[in-house]
Amino acid sequence: MYGNFPGSRPRRLRTTPVMRRMVAETRLHPANLILPAFVREGIDVPVAVSAMPGVQQHTLDTLRKAAVEAVSAGVSGIMLFGVPLDEKKDATGTAGTDPDGILQRALRGVREEVGDELVVMSDLCLDEYTDHGHCGVLTEDGRVDNDATLERYAEMAQVQADAGAHVVGPSGMMDGQVGVVRDALDQTGHEDVSILAYTAKYSSAFYGPFREAVGSSLRGDRKTYQQDPANTRESLRELALDLDEGADMVMVKPAGPYLDILAKVADAVDVPVAAYQISGEYAMIEAAAERGWIDRDAAILESLTGIRRAGAQMILTYWATEVAQRLGRG
Ligand code: PBG
Repeated sequence: MYGNFPGSRPRRLRTTPVMRRMVAETRLHPANLILPAFVREGIDVPVAVSAMPGVQQHTLDTLRKAAVEAVSAGVSGIMLFGVPLDEKKDATGTAGTDPDGILQRALRGVREEVGDELVVMSDLCLDEYTDHGHCGVLTEDGRVDNDATLERYAEMAQVQADAGAHVVGPSGMMDGQVGVVRDALDQTGHEDVSILAYTAKYSSAFYGPFREAVGSSLRGDRKTYQQDPANTRESLRELALDLDEGADMVMVKPAGPYLDILAKVADAVDVPVAAYQISGEYAMIEAAAERGWIDRDAAILESLTGIRRAGAQMILTYWATEVAQRLGRG
């Protein structure tokens, strides 16, 4: 006999799979998932990203196919990243605002293919397009110039919305970026285009594989604009600013190592909250699974359930389509 507390047996509710399912507090559904995808200029066949097994740099064609697959699996959104030809990179990231730049062509192609069946989102940042690899333009002495960068972001917002983005995702962590992007959208007839603000974006070592995925030219780091992993209050300050400036949805990134931040942000707001399970989080599970050190499928679901439990309604994950297929639309 276990003590004198006949009611205190939590294991009763763990007895069968359907019992556990009934009392589960957190559910993962395909509609919670958003697929980040890379599209590269000047390739005829997809190129594998070696540090992210299973992830590719798409051609414009294979990207369309990936979008269709995501729709059939019930995924809600796709977040597009462009990878321009190396020779098109320059100091101000011109290819990022060229209406015929790779990301804009991808946006048009995906919209043509899936219409409104996916929420089509675009990364609004300069790092893929600058020859120095920073998320903004530089001053003469090599610092990232906040306000000059905002002018570039305003232009990017318009060009991406013109190309068909339903949502733009400013990810450069410049002060004032959400406000400037909102104004630019409103002034160009894109009042209905929403902003998913990268609100709390930390300067993370876990972005490593992404830099390969986008062929980043960055030397050095982004510590003067991305947040210090040691800080919490700073995120709440960024959050207040983004909401003030007109963010429709907010994001915490990375996800796994920042679940405490995610929970605080989710508690504090009444807008939808997203989390980005980033390249390094993906790579770690894939690498351990490849070595037989971890049960891949179970670890993936657990990682996503943890992110949902912490408060994310939407999760950007490179496993979006696969997991959605596994979950079914049920
Ligand atoms: C910036 C951007 C980055 C990621 C998404 N948007 C890279 C960075 O800040 O260095 C990282 C995503 C990932 O690691 O999966 N354009």
